[in-house]
Amino acid sequence: MKIGNIELKNRYVLAPMAGVSDLPFRLLCSEYGAALVCTEMVSAKALHYHNKNTVELMQTRPEERPVSLQIFGSEPDIMAEQAKAIEDQPFDILDINMGCPMPKIVNNGDGSALMKNPKLVGEVVSAVVKATVKPVTVKIRKGFDADHVNAVEIAKIIEDSGAAAVHVHGRTRTQYYEGKADWSIIKAVKDAVKIPVIGNGDVNSYEDACRMIEETGCDMVSVARGAKGAPWIFKELAEGKKYTPSNEERIEVMKRHIALELETKGEFTAVREMRKHICWYTTGMKNSSHLRTRLAEVETVEKLYELIDEILCPNT
Ligand SMILES: Cc1cc2nc3c(=O)[nH]c(=O)nc-3n(C[C@H](O)[C@H](O)[C@H](O)COP(=O)(O)O)c2cc1C
Repeated sequence: MKIGNIELKNRYVLAPMAGVSDLPFRLLCSEYGAALVCTEMVSAKALHYHNKNTVELMQTRPEERPVSLQIFGSEPDIMAEQAKAIEDQPFDILDINMGCPMPKIVNNGDGSALMKNPKLVGEVVSAVVKATVKPVTVKIRKGFDADHVNAVEIAKIIEDSGAAAVHVHGRTRTQYYEGKADWSIIKAVKDAVKIPVIGNGDVNSYEDACRMIEETGCDMVSVARGAKGAPWIFKELAEGKKYTPSNEERIEVMKRHIALELETKGEFTAVREMRKHICWYTTGMKNSSHLRTRLAEVETVEKLYELIDEILCPNT
């Protein structure tokens, strides 16, 4: 499996998630077998103005590669300039976000708003492709709303503009993340283009992934929410059989995640980031609701470890 010149070890990809797919989480997904991981979205404008928060969003390590950097924006010149500016940074693929549904992004004409402007889609993708030697991929939705389902038209423009792959989320912008993803649109895109298609939406197990591949013919499958608090889903996908980690493994991964957050973001941010991840990791575990209610009071990494040991491993 290849995207441009980038060889992938299997077909399973970690989809980008703002606020979730930071470097620590990507490292864990990659260790568990994800063939490609993707950063949180980064604003091309913020890159242009050297915004310091984007530096944190762009932290990467060789162990996570291949890794894709996702940028968003709708001005072809700025997008191209930033693609060029990060040319020497160790990202393997450059991904363009044309799916984000959030009002503050859409109201600026970025993210999924681009799907309303096919001409501009072509201009943005062509400009970025010309500006970089990295393979360029584009993440789109089914359409902007139920009356404008145009993923096939947009995907063809993306292909004609030189992109190396297209990533399709089977929901419209107005659906956000609600309702069932429509996999038939992924099949329609796959039937219409020659570049690899990454199918996305509602894959939470190996069984789901097989069903998506069978129903749509997509080349790769990406997982977003199904990996939250469960980076081991990539082991299940890569090995092709159900995988349920023991409580000990969950706790070990949680602790590694804490250590990686501490290393990469410092204690203040690490503790705050980990509160949500710990809620996800411990879903369904004994005493997890008690742990959750106490997470808000924790301010240091040491106390976080102590709380996990006290509540989840009371006999050790
Ligand atoms: C918390 C969260 C943040 C997301 N951030 C991004 C993002 O930065 N860029 C992007 O293209 N998609 C983003 N998405 C969309 C996901 O990549 C994916 O398309 C969507 O969640 C459907 O896949 P799933 O059913 O596997 O979750 C985000 C989704 C969630 C839940």
